Amino acid sequence: MEPELARIPTASFLGEGSGNPVRAADLMAGEVIVDLGSGAGVDVFLAAHRVGPTGRAIGVDMTPEMVERARRAADEAGVANVEFRSGIIEKLPVSDGVADVVVSNCVINLSPDKAAVFREAFRVLKPGGRLVISDIVQERPLGRIDDDCRCVTNAIVRSEYLATIRDAGFEDVTVMEERPWRVGHAGVDASSVTIRAIKPREVNS
Ligand SMILES: C[S@@+](CC[C@H](N)C(=O)[O-])C[C@H]1O[C@@H](n2cnc3c(N)ncnc32)[C@H](O)[C@@H]1O
Repeated sequence: MEPELARIPTASFLGEGSGNPVRAADLMAGEVIVDLGSGAGVDVFLAAHRVGPTGRAIGVDMTPEMVERARRAADEAGVANVEFRSGIIEKLPVSDGVADVVVSNCVINLSPDKAAVFREAFRVLKPGGRLVISDIVQERPLGRIDDDCRCVTNAIVRSEYLATIRDAGFEDVTVMEERPWRVGHAGVDASSVTIRAIKPREVNS
């Protein structure tokens, strides 16, 4: 087990992520983090540890069992700077401009409206805020394939994914890490990528 996982509740770790957006986000003490599709809370707890007692980490998930499990883990571990909210990432239950960082781990690929997800991430970020996400992208259009988690079937191709982030208003969209996720007959079908993007300090309305 990675040392940082040993510091958070074991019940929060489902092993369903595709990367480590919290590590890539360079979080600082006092920052406010929002995690899109927080599941049992692993990245929320990791972020909460890094931002410390003056910061806060908020997870949003649409599955009531996940939200309940994450809240229970927080209560049992006595972690005070986390919060888990029920909701969808296409319409976040989060006010405008409250987050320093929005993270997400292997969730946006599942959304049928990725443009709405990135618009919502942009809305809840402060000016200058960072979007740091790990996700799956297709390396060529694949159609429906045999894919247990549906995370490759529902993913879109890399160029379209990056363009959707830019269209939401983000700048400096950068692929920080990548590795093959699914290798088929023609080579790499899909990749796990960690992407960082910035909300400009001045937004033209
Ligand atoms: C593959 S799991 C990843 C969970 C977590 N990020 C992790 O790394 O353990 C996907 C999670 O996203 C949630 N989810 C999927 N689509 C969602 C949506 N549109 N809005 C909110 N949550 C969503 C699911 O309920 C599930 O908990």
